[in-house]
Amino acid sequence: MIDPTARCPTWLIDRIRESGGSISFYKYMDLVLNDPENGFYSTGKLNIGKDGDFCTSPSLSNDFARLLALQVVEWFSDLEKSTIDSESFSLIEIGPGEGTLSKDLIVAIAEIEPALISKIELILVELNAGMRERQEKVVNNLNEINCRWCTIDDLISRPVTGVVIANEVLDAFPVERLVFTNDKVFRQGVMLKKINDDYFLEFVDLKPTSEIIQFLKASKNLLGIEFPPKDIPNRWVTEWHSDLPIWFEKLSKVLINGSLLVVDYAMESKRYYSSMRKDGTLVSYKNQEANINILSNAGLCDLTAHLCIELSINYALTNGWKFLGETRQGQALLALGLSKFLYSLQHTSGKDLSSALNRRESLLRLVDPMGLGEFRWLAFQKDNNNDLILRNRFLEEPIN
Ligand SMILES: C[S@@+](CC[C@H](N)C(=O)[O-])C[C@H]1O[C@@H](n2cnc3c(N)ncnc32)[C@H](O)[C@@H]1O
Repeated sequence: MIDPTARCPTWLIDRIRESGGSISFYKYMDLVLNDPENGFYSTGKLNIGKDGDFCTSPSLSNDFARLLALQVVEWFSDLEKSTIDSESFSLIEIGPGEGTLSKDLIVAIAEIEPALISKIELILVELNAGMRERQEKVVNNLNEINCRWCTIDDLISRPVTGVVIANEVLDAFPVERLVFTNDKVFRQGVMLKKINDDYFLEFVDLKPTSEIIQFLKASKNLLGIEFPPKDIPNRWVTEWHSDLPIWFEKLSKVLINGSLLVVDYAMESKRYYSSMRKDGTLVSYKNQEANINILSNAGLCDLTAHLCIELSINYALTNGWKFLGETRQGQALLALGLSKFLYSLQHTSGKDLSSALNRRESLLRLVDPMGLGEFRWLAFQKDNNNDLILRNRFLEEPIN
């Protein structure tokens, strides 16, 4: 049945026709987010924040960056002490959105460890021109630091030592959608349906690629899961982040030494590939509303798919990284001292009360198990044959 909100914009009609009448869902997601002239990210139509399309942790308050900075400083100081190869360090953010996290991290690092800041450069890796323009307005005002935008390929040709942060970016990578029906697997595609004079988008089953078949075969070893899982309903749909292996591989070549922190929507394979999850994890966001009709508002909303935790770790391990550990954001931020921030608000009075209450609400949202607190923090270290040990305060027991 056609979703009446899934009207196809003219530019996308052309793209689908050029491709012979249908495209893979992977291609669809890439186009609606990243097409240089029409994508939601590339045109900069997306707004992140309380008044925008959706909130990310850094967009709630700078407390997220102030807490994360404690971990980042610890990693930098371990790198500095090890004196393995470098006296200058890079803080790299992948997919910096509005640029808020990069800016707030630099401000927080300067407060926590002023001597470090002169040794750090900030590198932003942003795919989309529209987002980069927004980041420039935020980050170029930081005068205490050198800052540049690079592609991962640029960095591979001149690798650096440092810390890489990828907060809520891997969930925006295009995914393959797999449809299981009558014991067969298909690659989900998107095609045009003409009704009167209007074009709508509709799903179509396409032949699976050899990569998809290979992924399904390898899944028993990788995940202990055989596809299709038992007792799935007919037309069970799931997702595969097919770009992750190459992303981890390339990123490992960016670092001479250092760490990578991935923070994102994620869940264990058992839940991810459960027979009960019959429509996968994909949702769209616009004006703070989540929508499971993912063909609606093409190019005018965000699309996001959860990561599978074990797959992500496996792809990292087989592509140049060591695994440092993983936890929920709520735990991580409490381990880094979030409760101290909360206690410090208890003695607020008078005219500061309203901003203290706002700050308290944002802090609680960061650890809310029904919201951002459920995000996963996955940390990795460049796999080198050296004895560099990076401490991971965010994995310790929460402190009061
Ligand atoms: C959901 S936003 C995350 C924003 C930011 N990290 C935050 O926490 O507020 C995703 C960002 O990643 C960018 N992006 C998407 N795919 C990317 C890729 N392959 N490489 C670099 N940036 C990418 C988008 O343009 C956007 O800026």
